[in-house]
Amino acid sequence: MCGIVGYIGSGRAYGILMDGLRRLEYRGYDSAGVALERDDGTLSVYKSSGKVADLEHLAEGKDTTGSLGIGHTRWATHGQPNDVNAHPQVSRGGRLALVHNGTIENYRVLKETLSQCGYSFASETDTEVLVQLIDYIQETNHCPLPEAVREALREVDGAYAIAVVERDQPDQMVVARKSSPLVIGVGEGETFVASDATPIVGHTDQVIYLHDNEMAVIRRGKPLEVQSLAGEARPSLDVQTLRLSVAQLEKGGYPTFMLKEIFEQPSTLTDCLRGRITADCRRVVLSGVVENREKFLRAHRIVIVACGTSWHAGLIGKRLIQEMCGIPVEVEYASEFRYGCPRISEDDVVVAISQSGETADTLAAIQLAREMGAFVYGICNVVGSSIPRNTHSGTYIHVGPEIGVASTKAFTGQVTVLVLLALCLAQIKGTLRPYEVEPVAKALQRMPATIKEVLRLAPAVEQLSRTFTYAHNFLYLGRGYNYPTALEGALKLKEISYIHAEGYPAAEMKHGPIALIDDEMPSVIIAPNDSLHDKVLSNVQQVKARGGRVVAVINSGDEAIKSLADYCLEIPEVPECLTPIVASVPLQLLAYYIAVNKGRNVDKPRNLAKSVTVE
Ligand code: AGP
Ligand code: GLU
Repeated sequence: MCGIVGYIGSGRAYGILMDGLRRLEYRGYDSAGVALERDDGTLSVYKSSGKVADLEHLAEGKDTTGSLGIGHTRWATHGQPNDVNAHPQVSRGGRLALVHNGTIENYRVLKETLSQCGYSFASETDTEVLVQLIDYIQETNHCPLPEAVREALREVDGAYAIAVVERDQPDQMVVARKSSPLVIGVGEGETFVASDATPIVGHTDQVIYLHDNEMAVIRRGKPLEVQSLAGEARPSLDVQTLRLSVAQLEKGGYPTFMLKEIFEQPSTLTDCLRGRITADCRRVVLSGVVENREKFLRAHRIVIVACGTSWHAGLIGKRLIQEMCGIPVEVEYASEFRYGCPRISEDDVVVAISQSGETADTLAAIQLAREMGAFVYGICNVVGSSIPRNTHSGTYIHVGPEIGVASTKAFTGQVTVLVLLALCLAQIKGTLRPYEVEPVAKALQRMPATIKEVLRLAPAVEQLSRTFTYAHNFLYLGRGYNYPTALEGALKLKEISYIHAEGYPAAEMKHGPIALIDDEMPSVIIAPNDSLHDKVLSNVQQVKARGGRVVAVINSGDEAIKSLADYCLEIPEVPECLTPIVASVPLQLLAYYIAVNKGRNVDKPRNLAKSVTVE
């Protein structure tokens, strides 16, 4: 969890690293640092707690020359986010500098051994142990850096992506990975390294994804060497072409990435749906499902694994698949699945949902499911990320890069793909006829226009948000398809405003949380005109009867709820199974504006990171 960037070429490394770190900052942002090597082999390290801007401030007026360098933006796992614990971590005497994403699980044992060999440690990080270990091996074996790195990584348990440079070796960088992503960008006479492709975009579109247990030795002016940790050269470099533009990575006139991403949803949903519904709206074609129809037809059960927002999308997926296809579905937090003695067999299909495609818990759940013989299907956003590369098949949601830490457009994209998956599977199983597919498919095709209409609520939501800026607690209630929408609405608010919020099934509220209700605790109730509308109406009454304030998300013209609720946000009517897509948008806006009113950094909320690549 963090961002790594590296450069070797004829340009000035510092500027390239800093631009790269700014693009990677969404991954982790509690401290940052760079190591720069000048052509005469001198190495300087600048690092600071805080954001990339703090690092920039620190480096002002200092010597930042050098055409080789590595950089890091950290999300601390071992030790406080302070200057000393920031990366790069350096070896004894400052000979090696290393940046690391991940965790070294056996760092205590290694630290103990190295201490006995006379090493001391300035930081609390596991990373420093690794750089000292490489140093120790190199000094003891008198070997070149690549050999020492390979040897050291054989001793290490855990997850890592690393980049290492050595004093007096201005023409060489060594990188390696296990369970944490690393991409190499191949330019004209220059090479880039990064945790994801974002820092590389604009420099080159030719990339090589490093596989697990692989390392690469990058030498100025020499061909790139990619090899396994066992020392075998990769037979083919497998250079891929990136389809990402600089414009996609910028804010496009919005004050924040999150607001841009909320407003982008009409176009991201168009991209997500493209080519997946036939012109007559009577058939849905998801190639991953069609190509694996036998596996899906044989499935006795579908198990969905995911984390956070993706898990909420999974809960909606459960309802969709059970209702449309009649297959039992279980939804598990990936982190619980791995340690919960899962009973998985070859007759199960496991569906892993992840925006980033790098979430460590989800990757581990996939690994386990594969070992147990299941067919594993991924629903991801980031093309070429680890999850699509570790699943048997899958579907991309194609909503473009999501930079804001709070997931918005990825959620609506995930739910859209789950609807498509359920429809496609229902056709294959014969549980839905074309005339039954048609109304849902038509409403999906109209979804971009529908969301455009919902976004017109923004000024009203902004106004409403002022009423609640100082609330300390919120309750989000919904039923059926919209219980997960309530969970997602509450998560959005928590993440970016730091206000405590709980999502609850509306009817379950009376079994406990109702005790919390008073005029200081607003309830956001999702109550479209669906099969449970009248039940939810009673829940609204129950809250009002206890003096609670209600913000209701309703379909236009719902006079029954309008006469009870304190504030109403009116959304267009869509088929019941699509209501979470439409209802989640005003909740994203509400969380956004409350957080802005509170002066929060919505794109980079405290303690969080975009890709959770640690356990
Ligand atoms: C979403 O707003 C969160 N930041 C978080 O819950 C996220 O959904 C979760 O970490 C899973 O990430 P993934 O979809 O990239 O796997
Ligand atoms: N484990 C390392 C640390 O705490 C790296 C964390 C990260 O991935 O940012 O410094």
